[in-house]
Amino acid sequence: MLDKKQRTKRAWQAFAGCIAAAGMLLSLPADAARPAGKIGEDWGNPAGEGCIACHASVSPGLYREWNNSQHGQVGVNCLDCHKAEADDKDGYMHNGQRISIIVTPKDCSRCHNTEFQEMDGSHHAHAGRILASLDNLLGEVVGGPAAVNAGCRQCHGAKVEIGDDGKPLPTTWPNTGIGRLNPDGSEGSCTACHGRHRFSRAQARTPDTCGKCHVGPDHPQIEVYNESKHGIIYRAQVDEMNLKSDKWVAGVDYTAAPTCATCHMSASPREGKTHNVGDRISWTLRPPVSQKINLVRLEDGQEFDVKEGGEIPKVGDEAKGSKVIEVVTWEQRRQKMKNVCSACHTSSVIEGHYNQFDNVVDLYNDKFAKPVAAIMGELKKAGYISKAPFDDEIEWTWWEIWHHEGRRARHGASMNGPDYTWWHGLYEVAKHTYFEWIPQMREAVHKKDGNEKFADEMLEKYFKPIEGHDWYFNGMSKESIDKVRKGFEERYGKGALK
Ligand code: HEC
Ligand code: HEC
Ligand code: HEC
Ligand code: HEC
Ligand code: HEC
Ligand code: HEC
Ligand code: HEC
Ligand code: HEC
Repeated sequence: MLDKKQRTKRAWQAFAGCIAAAGMLLSLPADAARPAGKIGEDWGNPAGEGCIACHASVSPGLYREWNNSQHGQVGVNCLDCHKAEADDKDGYMHNGQRISIIVTPKDCSRCHNTEFQEMDGSHHAHAGRILASLDNLLGEVVGGPAAVNAGCRQCHGAKVEIGDDGKPLPTTWPNTGIGRLNPDGSEGSCTACHGRHRFSRAQARTPDTCGKCHVGPDHPQIEVYNESKHGIIYRAQVDEMNLKSDKWVAGVDYTAAPTCATCHMSASPREGKTHNVGDRISWTLRPPVSQKINLVRLEDGQEFDVKEGGEIPKVGDEAKGSKVIEVVTWEQRRQKMKNVCSACHTSSVIEGHYNQFDNVVDLYNDKFAKPVAAIMGELKKAGYISKAPFDDEIEWTWWEIWHHEGRRARHGASMNGPDYTWWHGLYEVAKHTYFEWIPQMREAVHKKDGNEKFADEMLEKYFKPIEGHDWYFNGMSKESIDKVRKGFEERYGKGALK
């Protein structure tokens, strides 16, 4: 790209203002949401030309990324994003202009209010509010603050602290966690997905963008996706994905496979695009026991989930200091996702998928999570384990059962990753429940007061009524083994079961 020519073009745009804007915008497809402003009026601050001239040599990599970006091409310059007002506490004087290093979602909202509003109420924008969680206690106390700063907060977002010089403190910066708590009071970081200074739509549509955070033992969504047929075909046919397209409607602008963005954010013929990643999900698969979730939207732009069976406020009711303007039931949320699938699939695949997925969540919930959680409560009540989390070995075992293995099983089933559903998922849940958690329960009780009966009573009460645990109590009887043998022989021929 010819930088010099571009610069001249930009200067001319700033000068010619509205005329250039009209010409540019008319030549673009009508589907994309465009900022309502005008070049030369709402952006293209002439004072920003100074930043460009100097930073082209001070930080040429940064400058070129910006220059080649959509922003650079339409004349949105450095000062349009980095300008600080007199009362911004993260502002300071820099070569004659008051600027801020931090560019928050609120700063972007000046031109992209729709995306800002959609993200602002979502779990993404709230992901920095984790201070009160069990995970945080684990990180801060059992681990240590340094690990939290360079670990948790790089995904969830830090509270960015500003020093006396108006610059962010190094313990909290750099940080582009998805729910960053910004000095201007806004929450989130648009750069979490749109890497600077390209701020590219195409890059945000790739699964790897989400995989920075949606990865690892407790939420392996990128691994699940990679092993799914969707992930396999995406990679094989990535050059047919039309990722740079202005509008990106599944089944129309590309057909090979869906990415994370396709299912959770982008448009399909029956579903509009959104920056709220919670819009299309019907379960929460994160807590020890999963629940279906209804969504309640408030007048102040915020929103919250109400679990199935909980009391759902009505439109017009007061809630959380604001007024309810919309209720989206879990069924409606699910329908939105199905609308996306239907760009490429018909009902047998879609309904069959949800049937298999729901059954895995129910299996995990009912057979393992509920009885184990109930007994953990009883152990605490009876004083066999302390009230503090993580000081008894059995608490770590239970933690890994639900927070790691149980989530993996649920995530695998939700997004077509069979290895995560079984080998990394329910297989581990079962193994650790029967052969670590139950022995540890016996040991915890026995060590405390020699009680031989308590553990058996607990199993009798919470495990025995569940049919799936029969084999554990009764062993594999001759009858049940014969039944299995018969099944095998029908399928694979005589003598198949060794
Ligand atoms: C005359 C040259 C010059 C001009 C003009 C200039 N800068 Fe800089 N800028 C620099 C230098 C040098 C640095 C320091 C680089 C470093 O710390 O490695 C810098 C640093 C920065 C930083 C990062 C500060 C930090 O601590 O990380 C930002 C943001 C920035 N400039 C934005 C701007 C903006 C916006 C403008 C226009 C209003 C601008 N600059 C104008 C030379 C310039
Ligand atoms: C579309 C808005 C936007 C534009 C235009 C923009 N920036 Fe930035 N810039 C950002 C964001 C966002 C960050 C990351 C800060 C954050 O996470 O809050 C950033 C970070 C920076 C940093 C620190 C990053 C680093 O890696 O050292 C510098 C320096 C900087 N910008 C300079 C510039 C200069 C110079 C220009 C013009 C050539 C420019 N920016 C144009 C949004 C913008
Ligand atoms: C690699 C990025 C990453 C790291 C590191 C990380 N998390 Fe998370 N965390 C996530 C993602 C992604 C989710 C959402 C998973 C999902 O929806 O399945 C999540 C979920 C959570 C939740 C559940 C939120 C809810 O609404 O139920 C809490 C609490 C949490 N993390 C706290 C922490 C703490 C504390 C640490 C460090 C001790 C940490 N996380 C480390 C990415 C990360
Ligand atoms: C979770 C990742 C993610 C975050 C965070 C995110 N975006 Fe996006 N953004 C995307 C994806 C994916 C697309 C492409 C959507 C599509 O396919 O049309 C996109 C597209 C856009 C577009 C182009 C819109 C259009 O209609 O063509 C704009 C503008 C935008 N984002 C602004 C923002 C702003 C502003 C923020 C912060 C408030 C933000 N984004 C935060 C993922 C993200
Ligand atoms: C001063 C106005 C302004 C600000 C501030 C601004 N943008 Fe933009 N943005 C634009 C314009 C204009 C376009 C080009 C739209 C078009 O293609 O006509 C654009 C395009 C985009 C796109 C689409 C890029 C692509 O690949 O097609 C994304 C994503 C985006 N902006 C994100 C952001 C983010 C994130 C921020 C804040 C860090 C931000 N913008 C701040 C005006 C702005
Ligand atoms: C084919 C569509 C599809 C693709 C591709 C896809 N997902 Fe999902 N995702 C789903 C469905 C369906 C669910 C379960 C929805 C429900 O609860 O009803 C889900 C659930 C989730 C959840 C919620 C988990 C929880 O703990 O509650 C997260 C987070 C998530 N996906 C992230 C991702 C990421 C990241 C990627 C890419 C690496 C991705 N998804 C790819 C369809 C998809
Ligand atoms: C910088 C880290 C990060 C990136 C990048 C990221 N996420 Fe997330 N995501 C999180 C965290 C953390 C949570 C959990 C927030 C909470 O509940 O507190 C989350 C939650 C979610 C959820 C659950 C929403 C709900 O309402 O429960 C979905 C779905 C999701 N992300 C999809 C995506 C997709 C799709 C992308 C990429 C386009 C993406 N995420 C990119 C960190 C990230
Ligand atoms: C952009 C198109 C597209 C979208 C959108 C899409 N898929 Fe797919 N899906 C495919 C393709 C292509 C395959 C691979 C077909 C094959 O060879 O098995 C596939 C495979 C599958 C399979 C495996 C089928 C098998 O026979 O192994 C399931 C299950 C599935 N998709 C479910 C879904 C669900 C559920 C959704 C929505 C949440 C969805 N898909 C969204 C294109 C899509």
